[in-house]
Amino acid sequence: MTKPLSIGELEWYRNKILAQEDEGKTRVYVCMTGCRAYGAAEFKTALEDEIKGQGLSGQVEVRATGCHGLCAKAPVISVEPLGVQYQEVVPEDAAEIVASTLKQNRLLDRLVYQDAQSGKPIHYRSQIPFYKRQVRRVLANCGRIDPTSVEHYIAAGGYQAIVKAYNEAAAWSTKNPQAAAEILAPTLKMSVPDVMKQLKTEARYDVSEYNIEEQLLRYSGFMYEVGLIKRMPKKLSDFAMPELVKAGH
Ligand code: FES
Repeated sequence: MTKPLSIGELEWYRNKILAQEDEGKTRVYVCMTGCRAYGAAEFKTALEDEIKGQGLSGQVEVRATGCHGLCAKAPVISVEPLGVQYQEVVPEDAAEIVASTLKQNRLLDRLVYQDAQSGKPIHYRSQIPFYKRQVRRVLANCGRIDPTSVEHYIAAGGYQAIVKAYNEAAAWSTKNPQAAAEILAPTLKMSVPDVMKQLKTEARYDVSEYNIEEQLLRYSGFMYEVGLIKRMPKKLSDFAMPELVKAGH
């Protein structure tokens, strides 16, 4: 991927990734963090071999992901869009998972979570008590995207705080040019009238053309001062956290 240079390019790139995604495609998310200690890598290789051997190449994506949360049941995998979680999988399970679940949507009781009280199998991740009572925010994409793929991150809404904070800051400064100029003047080492002049000129341009890193870090003090963001970012990646943007913005 070429490095996106502007907010406009970032949005364009995100739409392109989403357009290329096959929504209906079966995906197996294999936890490849702590679960590696319990053989996740060996299971993943066995699963990929079985998918190929049983003629499902190109129809199923096996994705290495971060932690799914239920580490005590390692190795943990999930099959989407079925919403099924299998746990404590071993390479020898791969053939049956492909033949039954991936080919026929048949779920394997022996690999799903067992209810602690009733001992009954719980097939769907959303029904497992551990997940049922939590709403994942910071870790919402953990276990669903490959952490080494920036494309996965962008497709899942990554860097959207940048777009939001920057567009709001630009809109605020257009509405309040005097106040914006007073805040920006010391940082830019310019006089207030000169900053106002610059703001007027910049307002004529499409903000989507701005260089993300340069502009965001330049205006982050301003965004902080006017209450659009909760703390001063030090580097571009700090903008990746949606929580940076204050509620209501
Ligand atoms: S480390 Fe695999 S589920 Fe947490």
